[in-house]
Amino acid sequence: GRLLSVFAILALVLSGCGKPYLSALKPAGEVAKQQYDLIMFSLGIMTLVIVVVFAIFIIVIVRFRRTKENEHKIPKQVEGSHTLEIVWTIIPIILLLILAVPTVAVTFSQGDVSAMDEKDEDGNPTSLIVNVRAHLYWWEFEYPNLGIVTSQDLVIPTGEKVYFNLTSADIKHSFWIPPLGGKLDTNPDNINKFFLSVDQDKATKAGEIFYGKCAELCGPSHAYMDFKVKALPKNEFDQWVADMKDAKAPTPTTEVASKGEEIFNNSCLLCHAIDPSNEAPAAGRTAPNLANFAEREKIAGILDHNEEELKRWIRESDKIKPGNKMPVFTKDQISDDDLNALAAYLMELKVQNK
Ligand code: CUA
Repeated sequence: GRLLSVFAILALVLSGCGKPYLSALKPAGEVAKQQYDLIMFSLGIMTLVIVVVFAIFIIVIVRFRRTKENEHKIPKQVEGSHTLEIVWTIIPIILLLILAVPTVAVTFSQGDVSAMDEKDEDGNPTSLIVNVRAHLYWWEFEYPNLGIVTSQDLVIPTGEKVYFNLTSADIKHSFWIPPLGGKLDTNPDNINKFFLSVDQDKATKAGEIFYGKCAELCGPSHAYMDFKVKALPKNEFDQWVADMKDAKAPTPTTEVASKGEEIFNNSCLLCHAIDPSNEAPAAGRTAPNLANFAEREKIAGILDHNEEELKRWIRESDKIKPGNKMPVFTKDQISDDDLNALAAYLMELKVQNK
């Protein structure tokens, strides 16, 4: 009974139940599907080997067990068998070859990023490219040909290959969206490239977002280095692009929020841009871009999205995400009243059309 409940809990944990959608066993795109099929294929071969080995093992145990009749006899002593040795060498070689052919084929086809260099008549890339820059402990997504920068939320269209340039602003991290396929390192000194895709029928709906993770131990808050992936049907993605390109910061609607805007401009704008254009000065890109902050699912990737949590984050970000670069703002620096104003302003921050 106790063992059964342990297994039940384990099964629940391993099945990656409910949200967030973070399972490599529920592939949502072609790349992930091919990798999943390879996992299942090799699992099948391994199972076959285990079954055969255990069957032989059991036969030998039963057949050559000690009985009353053979109790005092020494069995026939055999030394070496060329036939057997050849058989048990050739079988693994054949199995490895069977496994290697599809693995190598998939590895090469998934490593082909030549389409990134293809240009249309105007010299623009024909495929969607996203520059991913990892930071301690957040993610920046730049769409170089669309002129957009976002942080923490990766928005992509379904039904097409999306190409990624992966790099890091500080140390090694690793970019991984389990339901979309294998991970790849983000390094400060080179650019890794690959592509992923989401099937048309796997577009994310509200609350069904894919989760991405940092998959390289990078410091005390490595486990909190999450991001979200919204996969939209092509027309909705185009609309999102149009909205972001046309965006401007909203005008505060209350007096408190106006005060908050002033505080933000004096204290936060040095690191946090609120304009989703990638023409923001470099200084505005040392911290997450806060365009559309009001519509985020989470604060700093992990906290519930409400004013109380936002204020807690500003006061003690060092405790919530140890080792992160956000300075802590004490009451001497930002009074409680000012903090309320700042939170009111940020909670209104969503992209508006010009
Ligand atoms: Cu970044 Cu782990």
